[in-house]
Amino acid sequence: MGCQKTEQLQKWIEKVSSYTEKGKVATYIPALGEADPNTLAIAIYEGPNQCFSAGNVSETFTLQSISKVLTLALALMDKGEDFVFQKVGMEPTGDPFNSISKLETSVPSKPLNPMINAGALAVTNLLPGQTNDEKLSRLIGFIQKLTGNHDITYNERVAQSEFETADLNRSLAYFMKQHGVIEGDVNELLALYTKQCAIELNCHDLAKIGWVLANKGIDPLSGEIIVPFDVARIVKTFMVTCGMYNASGEFAIKVGIPAKSGVSGGILGSVPHGMGIGIYGPALDEKGNSIAGIKLLELLAKEMKLSIF
Ligand code: DON
Repeated sequence: MGCQKTEQLQKWIEKVSSYTEKGKVATYIPALGEADPNTLAIAIYEGPNQCFSAGNVSETFTLQSISKVLTLALALMDKGEDFVFQKVGMEPTGDPFNSISKLETSVPSKPLNPMINAGALAVTNLLPGQTNDEKLSRLIGFIQKLTGNHDITYNERVAQSEFETADLNRSLAYFMKQHGVIEGDVNELLALYTKQCAIELNCHDLAKIGWVLANKGIDPLSGEIIVPFDVARIVKTFMVTCGMYNASGEFAIKVGIPAKSGVSGGILGSVPHGMGIGIYGPALDEKGNSIAGIKLLELLAKEMKLSIF
């Protein structure tokens, strides 16, 4: 299903696009530094044959932290709530996404939630499959099903670029291995995690994922249950409490929808009762969220009264 360009969305993009100049693209993963900071695009699914867009919505980008929502859903579907939450908690941290500090002070010593890097590494360690290839293809298959886009794969160059520079994530993983939170070879886990973060899609695909989640896990186009009701409920709750990292509180006040950002500049939004949003704007604020993407969501939430609160 194609998306229709709309003048209204284009106007809203133009209204906030100057914010892109105030942000910076992520460079700690060197390959992400090549993105054009001026880009801003949005797609919105509201119903069958109701997909609206503005900006270059076919431009692809990597999921980065948005993948954390999808690995959590897959781990919950395979291992169940009780098992997954033995390894990772349910509380927001108020710390940056890559922080190690609470890992040492939390008792029991497990990451506080699955949306920070430590928690996401613990969740990736639970993905179904015997080998990394099998685990990755289960995850990519799940994303292909959610989006309806069977061409989705991961970007090897971005994955390799992150793998070579992921020493902070490696140290989080070694710490958790020592404390029995994760099992197996740390570099194998990092290889899988960096590939999961490098899965590549566009705003349409992201909006479609948000739409399925907004529809309680049922694909509105096929009627198929892709994500069980309770799993969809749990991941959306984490999107509200931890989806924008240590900006989640301010985002809840100013926008008020379940959302998840990534350092590539993507934002996945899911508005209850049937709206999915995909945004791409690689210039980031100091907390790692798309600076103009957030402004666009603030405007959208105000104009369309989207807040769930
Ligand atoms: O682990 C990392 O640092 C990246 N692959 C993902 C971090 C991320 O997207 C945080 N987002 N705001």
